[in-house]
Amino acid sequence: MKLRKIVDGVLLGGALDWNRRLFDSLIPLPDGTSYNAYVISGSEKTVLLDAVDPKVADTLMAQLDEVPKIDYVVAHHGEQDHSGVIPMVIDRYPEAKVVVSSKGKPILMDHLSLNEDKFLVVEDGQEIALGGKTLKFIYTPWVHWPETMVTYLKEDRILFSCDFFASHLATTEMFVRDEPQAYKAAKRFFAEIMMPFRPVVAKNLDKLEPYAIDMIAPSHGQIYDNPAFIVDAYRKWVGSEPHNLVCIPYVTMHGSTHIMVEHLTDQLVSRGVVVEQFDLPVTDIGDLAVSLVDAATIVVGTPTVLVGPHPHAAYAAVLANALKPKAKFAAIIGSYGWGSKAVETIQSLIPNLKVEVLGAVLTKGHPKADALAELDKLAEAIAQKHRELGVL
Ligand code: FEO
Repeated sequence: MKLRKIVDGVLLGGALDWNRRLFDSLIPLPDGTSYNAYVISGSEKTVLLDAVDPKVADTLMAQLDEVPKIDYVVAHHGEQDHSGVIPMVIDRYPEAKVVVSSKGKPILMDHLSLNEDKFLVVEDGQEIALGGKTLKFIYTPWVHWPETMVTYLKEDRILFSCDFFASHLATTEMFVRDEPQAYKAAKRFFAEIMMPFRPVVAKNLDKLEPYAIDMIAPSHGQIYDNPAFIVDAYRKWVGSEPHNLVCIPYVTMHGSTHIMVEHLTDQLVSRGVVVEQFDLPVTDIGDLAVSLVDAATIVVGTPTVLVGPHPHAAYAAVLANALKPKAKFAAIIGSYGWGSKAVETIQSLIPNLKVEVLGAVLTKGHPKADALAELDKLAEAIAQKHRELGVL
């Protein structure tokens, strides 16, 4: 695909990756992704904002055949899906400087083969004039790494945000027109990438508040020409108030844990609590992460394998611990054959979760009346906590 005009002097380049199904060998990509690069031309200078993943380097380099001169390459973020092709760009335009934040320079030097004299470090708030177009660089750390920054194009009131507000979505439609689709993809991206940094993401939203923004142009997914749509969504996602939602990641081997999960679900639903179940061996972990954005309570369901939790349950616990969701309450349910340390092990895996543990219900073998009665009590305890929280 060729460079496409957004407004006069501002072009969208980069590549659609329709068939990529996994990012960072971790994150499922049900809708593929895109790596967006932008070319901005003033009367005197031309800049490339971000590059692309090395696997699609040829696409960007062919697009740049239309661009005779580049003076600056802005690297908002050091991760290679945006920076990996910068050395090729610099080889073609040897006079160009790589514009980075102060923390961006050492990160890019670690990841790319670039000499120190190729960099131009900009301070927070610094501007570069291109001739009729002015770029202002705003430090926005931890969206996704510590060095991340965004660029505000003053005259056109466009914010180039890299991973911030991004979504993994491959589509030829440049602007968001299907808002439910865009919301779902952006929430998934937030859950997987931004959720661990909620407090600092909130600060970055505050920092951008004074800017008049007509468009947000991220480096994955579509451009928002109604920026309030995504900014308001981010405000909700970073907020500390969870929903009346219990997220139950679980795994079952011979059915006992599944019976317990189903029983607890029925009991919660009958009390007006919303439940989302995730059968871990077949779950898309992106869906689980999205559930964790809103859930007030997490209940891990696990059978016992060699005294410990099932490895799928341990994986979910490690993932939830890394994502640092806003959940306030947790519980563990499951089963064992002769002995179990599953509860202690799961608890040791979630030190980052600031949750009140409401209990553990572990049954020996097939769940019987006493175990089911314990689950009834757990459901009531969860419902009561949700009522006290004001979400039920
Ligand atoms: Fe799209 Fe953190 O890179």
